[in-house]
Amino acid sequence: MSHQDDLIKTDILAYLDAQANKSFLRFITCGSVDDGKSTLIGRLLYDTKLIYEDQLATLENDSKKTGTQGEEIDFALLVDGLAAEREQGITIDVAYRFFSTENRKFIVADTPGHEQYTRNMATGASTADVAVILIDARQGVLTQTRRHSFITSLLGIRHIVVAINKMDLVDYSQETFDTIEAEYREFSNSLGFESITCIPMSALKGDNIITKSPYTSWYHGSPLLPFLETVNVSQKTENVPFRMPVQWVNRPNLDFRGFSGTIASGSIKPGDEIVVLPSSKRSTVTRIVTQDGDLEEGVTDKAVTLTLADEIDISRGDIICAGNAPSEQTDQFSADILWMHDEEMIPGRQYLLKTANRSVPATVTELHHKINVNTLDHQSGKTLALNEVGSCKLSLGRPIAFDPYRDNKTTGAFVLIDRLTNSTIGVGMIKHSLRRAQNIHWQDLEINKHARAEQKMQKPCILWFTGLSGSGKSTVANLVEKRLYDLGRHTYTLDGDNVRHGLNKDLGFTDADRVENIRRVAETSKLMVDTGLIVLVSFISPFKSERRMAREIVEDGEFIEVHISTPLAVCEQRDVKGLYAKARRGEITNFTGIDSAYEAPENPDITLDTSTIPADEAADLIVEHLRDKGYLSI
Ligand code: ADX
Repeated sequence: MSHQDDLIKTDILAYLDAQANKSFLRFITCGSVDDGKSTLIGRLLYDTKLIYEDQLATLENDSKKTGTQGEEIDFALLVDGLAAEREQGITIDVAYRFFSTENRKFIVADTPGHEQYTRNMATGASTADVAVILIDARQGVLTQTRRHSFITSLLGIRHIVVAINKMDLVDYSQETFDTIEAEYREFSNSLGFESITCIPMSALKGDNIITKSPYTSWYHGSPLLPFLETVNVSQKTENVPFRMPVQWVNRPNLDFRGFSGTIASGSIKPGDEIVVLPSSKRSTVTRIVTQDGDLEEGVTDKAVTLTLADEIDISRGDIICAGNAPSEQTDQFSADILWMHDEEMIPGRQYLLKTANRSVPATVTELHHKINVNTLDHQSGKTLALNEVGSCKLSLGRPIAFDPYRDNKTTGAFVLIDRLTNSTIGVGMIKHSLRRAQNIHWQDLEINKHARAEQKMQKPCILWFTGLSGSGKSTVANLVEKRLYDLGRHTYTLDGDNVRHGLNKDLGFTDADRVENIRRVAETSKLMVDTGLIVLVSFISPFKSERRMAREIVEDGEFIEVHISTPLAVCEQRDVKGLYAKARRGEITNFTGIDSAYEAPENPDITLDTSTIPADEAADLIVEHLRDKGYLSI
């Protein structure tokens, strides 16, 4: 029976007290089933007596039934808890396990090692202090070792344990160990780890896991568990400035107003000066309130409520910073992005970027290069696919407060969210703000949109025609423009085929090119609205996401979506330009409706099918709509 068990029985309060005061270590294990990862975790849990007896009985039974170790216990079974995994022999998700020893508490994130699960590994790694990277001593440093190490470094883990496992199968050879250690140290040189500790072990036999192995007398370092119990991972706290993203404003009654959150970095005392971003308002901390009473000092990871000397406006998502060292603010920065979604990341497409408690619209303006996660080579590319990593530039709808990720994992990290489905599709680590963002300011002009529109005696807007090729968009747009012209209105038509002869000559028909095509046209039509014009835009514009972006970059009421909903069969039959026939013959690829998607609008302002009404009538209906809604009444 361990000392802990004794304490639980005899003095539960002393036990709880000891638990509460222990330091915490979060670590991640990287490797594949073949490297013995599950066996290692199973061994750690077993040897630290964290397995309950009923689990143990099941394990012993299972080991006999399905284990790979004969009569001995198969520790991998303990960890590979899911039946499906056992059958396939792979681990497919992140599992967090908690265990503790007399000296420390641990959370281990057990993540899969296969390339297609890079995103799961990133999920497990984002909060870890240490990564244990397993290497099979018979195999040495493999592609997957490089991949695990790269993702680990990308996510800012600074301490690495290289667990050179299965030493029993290489006769505990020091030479084998030394060769692998030398190779690992050489390749990981560029990854910027603070410490690398190589340990020869056999998870299966228990060598150098809890106690020193008698078979590796040449190894003078610690076994794994004692190492994890003593490794010092705290960053040099004196240099890390205070940051606390505000989670909520705590206002139980009129006499109390506090700002609650978890301290992301640094520490704070009553009397310290703080600055709140983005407002840049300053004040002084008066109290640090917690459930257990007020604190003399609030430290990193502590959940606290701060009260301030002054009544300043603070809301959820603001960051409270040390007064002498606030975070930077920017609306353009460079970052590494790990893409986590089946649908590729397309520069120019608008996503939602979420940092600590704050969401802003964001666009990747440039994919500078992709990083091959296996070789660390830089590659060029236009998009990022699932599990790919890219060095990108991003532009935001509004500035955010941030710190570079290497300085602060909380205020330097973000996730990207799909605006239509609300799912997380990427994670990012901010590198630095772009200097051009700091040097470019908005210039206010005295003659504004309002003045220009008034002079033209009209209300400017965009009539956005979307629909398949051959649906009749341009025909109807042309008729509408003629009618508006006759009414003395000032107009301009941007037509896909025409704009692609000039401004967008460089773009083809891949998804990425279409996104950029629409982005440019949306920006151009916004400028035209600013000149006071009624702009007619006639582009297939097949994706909801970009049409939504076009709607959102102008003011409410300035975007009128017209869906020309003529069915594909009719468009194909018309085939005015002979393009459908070519697409069917395979002479052109990515043709909308044939081998490229068209996402019909869900709530268009106007829907017209030119196979059921003549183009003339369709044009009349649109002009009527403009008149009804007051666009022509000035
Ligand atoms: S969009 O999808 O990016 O909005 P856009 O409206 O600019 O397309 O251009 C569509 C026009 O390009 C079509 O009307 C057609 O004449 C021509 N075209 C040539 N190749 C294709 C293709 N693969 N898919 C769709 N249209 C094509």
